[in-house]
Amino acid sequence: MKRLAILGSTGSIGVQALDVAARFPERFEVVALCAGRNAARLGEQARRFRPKLVAVADERAAREVAALVPAGTEVLAGDAGAVHAATHPEVDLVVAAISGGAGLRSTAAAVEAGKAVGLANKESLVLAGELVMARAAARGATILPVDSEHSAIHQSLVGHNRSEVRRLILTASGGPLRGVPAAELADVTPARALKHPNWSMGDKITIDSATLMNKGLEVIEARWLFGVEPRRIDIVVHPESIVHSMVEYIDGSMVAQLGVSDMRGPISYALGHPERLPLDLAPLDLAGLGKLTFEPPDAARFPAFTLAYRALEMGGTAPAVLSGADEGAVAAFLAGRCRFTQIADACAAALDAHAPEPLRSVDQALEASAWGRREVERRLAR
Ligand SMILES: NC(=O)c1ccc[n+]([C@@H]2O[C@H](COP(=O)([O-])OP(=O)(O)OC[C@H]3O[C@@H](n4cnc5c(N)ncnc54)[C@H](OP(=O)(O)O)[C@@H]3O)[C@@H](O)[C@H]2O)c1
Repeated sequence: MKRLAILGSTGSIGVQALDVAARFPERFEVVALCAGRNAARLGEQARRFRPKLVAVADERAAREVAALVPAGTEVLAGDAGAVHAATHPEVDLVVAAISGGAGLRSTAAAVEAGKAVGLANKESLVLAGELVMARAAARGATILPVDSEHSAIHQSLVGHNRSEVRRLILTASGGPLRGVPAAELADVTPARALKHPNWSMGDKITIDSATLMNKGLEVIEARWLFGVEPRRIDIVVHPESIVHSMVEYIDGSMVAQLGVSDMRGPISYALGHPERLPLDLAPLDLAGLGKLTFEPPDAARFPAFTLAYRALEMGGTAPAVLSGADEGAVAAFLAGRCRFTQIADACAAALDAHAPEPLRSVDQALEASAWGRREVERRLAR
């Protein structure tokens, strides 16, 4: 029996993680749930899974949720609540699926407590990958990626010698705007950018998928997760989202992982690891698909992913600044306060204005991210 804490339980990944856990009641017990402000959904989940502890982002949500959970369930609020859920002594595996930089503190706490972590919150590694991975090694905490690309790479590395890896190749769907001409991009509405052809995800990551910033953030995530230098991490656009990513070895062989576009696949890989769970997803029908296509990413129309390589080159606090800048720019775009094309421009300007410092702590990473966000908000308010 694995005992779970699901952080971000009311979001897209969190709901699917609970769906997987519910299919295997003999294997998983939900000990702690943590969410932001969706008290109604969290209350429902608490009544169904009967965790010992639920945590929410603030006191107001805590009061709301306290009225909805079964008697005896502890209710906590704020960062401290998320950290409590992530480090609960009865928890074996923490699913880190809070969105954005808000997920870093609880991921870092889970690692520090030596927990196994199913990591969906890529921002934890974008903001502080070097620190988080070093602490995971020191504390014996296993990090299992939930991002489908990193899960594919994790699976493609099993049984192989790390020193024989030549390149990691991240596949990208190309997002909702792949075929849109450059001249139209400035007028793209949030509703249009939110229509992803293959994946149903939270709003932030869907917009990041449209700009290709998501792929850039995944390059940073892969850099730390697998210890591979950025120049050996490539991106290829694969609109069918069937090949979830690949590893190229020194003899030119490529090992890839394929599957249908359903996040319950990578979630179940992380939850079940080292065993695979008998999941009844729709089978992958390659003959029915007929062909798989690949093309290079278009940096002229979608320059955001190139900023990730630049931030890694700058080093230290620069990736955290990029992540915060992107959170600010995406929020502004969704609120109708900036154009689609301004997202990458504003992030580039924030990086230009930043003098990176060596990264020493989670607090410093969070401060750098907050600075990036403020910098973008200031520029977009002009
Ligand atoms: N969705 C995908 O398919 C997918 C794929 C790969 C990676 N990821 C990554 O997984 C993470 C989650 O993505 P998502 O798409 O599931 O996002 P989402 O649907 O927007 O859900 C975000 C979750 O985080 C919670 N949350 C936000 N701020 C919080 C805070 N301060 N404290 C506690 N909880 C907080 C939200 O709670 P409330 O809703 O209750 O406010 C919600 O449960 C992101 O880092 C994303 O990049 C997602």
